[in-house]
Amino acid sequence: MAVLNWGMIGGGRGSQIGPAHRLGARVDGLFQMTAGALDHRPDQGHEYGVELGLDPDRAYGSWQEMLEGEKNRSDKVDLVTVATPNNTHFEITRAFLQQGFNVLCEKPLTMTVNEAEELVETAKAHQRICAVNYGYSGYSLVRHMRAMVARGDLGKIRLVFAEFAHGHHSDAADADNPRVRWRYDPKQIGVSAQFADCGIHAMHLASFVTGQRVEQLSADTVSLIESRQLEDDAMVNFRMSGGTVGRLWTSSVALGRQHGLAIQVFGEKGGLRWSQEQPNQLFYTPLNGRLTVIERGEGNLSPEADRSSRVTVGHAEGMPLAFANIYTELASAISAQKENQSMDLGLVPTAEDGADSIRAIYAVAASGEANGVWTKL
Ligand code: NAI
Repeated sequence: MAVLNWGMIGGGRGSQIGPAHRLGARVDGLFQMTAGALDHRPDQGHEYGVELGLDPDRAYGSWQEMLEGEKNRSDKVDLVTVATPNNTHFEITRAFLQQGFNVLCEKPLTMTVNEAEELVETAKAHQRICAVNYGYSGYSLVRHMRAMVARGDLGKIRLVFAEFAHGHHSDAADADNPRVRWRYDPKQIGVSAQFADCGIHAMHLASFVTGQRVEQLSADTVSLIESRQLEDDAMVNFRMSGGTVGRLWTSSVALGRQHGLAIQVFGEKGGLRWSQEQPNQLFYTPLNGRLTVIERGEGNLSPEADRSSRVTVGHAEGMPLAFANIYTELASAISAQKENQSMDLGLVPTAEDGADSIRAIYAVAASGEANGVWTKL
């Protein structure tokens, strides 16, 4: 497979998620970074891009310059990653799709359901990939959970419990800090704070693992730090398309918790438990059987898990390599696209998944406002 050209918007110096993308995209040698508009400050974006090895004329000052500069090149970027703040995703992603670029956008895909649906349609109309970085679905053992559920190891899935509860916004004295305050300000963040930021990762995992969509939900949303206008904690009950009952807890005031993403699936024939802070073990208990610890890298787990794992059993694999699994599958789809062959996106989360999340965000906000009334997506 020829090495593909990759570009990035956002992810500038000091950004939270930029480095994980740069590691993930390049670790398998399938993409090389050839262009970027990395920062909202043009000079700093240019300077950092050059420092990272970009040609100076492709270390752009803004995404608009990057679009103009790339669109007519014969070696233009094959994939653009959008890792800017949420309220810019729609405009940037739409503009690049319309000019024939493939896009991997950070979550949440957009700020409104209409925008998300428009991106789904734009990608279809221009026959381009619009993927969303639900990167935690790239973990080998999360993929193995999905495979075990799909092949019936657990029987019918009765219940899924997902959580994404951290404690990094627990300090009430910090609530007015400008770096924290905007995250709970509806003018800047939209209708939901903690659920839109973290809860959607947990809900995506619930769908990814069970192969079912969320159809309706009831949410209890609270601002435990009272000065906040939007929720910093939510408990969401939901029902899925295949009849599975879902429970989800998300919080930013769970003091003492670090990343706090975990998922459990309970079926008629067995249960599974996985936590992102201990990603190399999957805990499996069959009905009437003993707890078994499945280790990442054991080999012969499932094709989905085996191909998503790089180092031998016992050595830790972490988040950038989970992202790398999204990039690997994108690379193979884009290579097929370039040769006019049929594309298989594998397990890559798409704009449809991104749109489901935006529907869930609005349903959580509406249900929370209405004291938990059951709300259809
Ligand atoms: P950040 O604030 O740390 O970094 C944002 C970067 O984007 C900065 O370098 C900034 O200069 C740049 N930027 C802002 N506007 C820009 C523009 N118009 N053009 C070019 N660059 C621009 O933000 P962070 O935490 O890295 O989040 C970025 C996105 O990634 C958000 O949508 C967030 O929800 C998502 N995210 C996803 C995670 C995941 O696990 N999938 C984890 C963390 C963040």
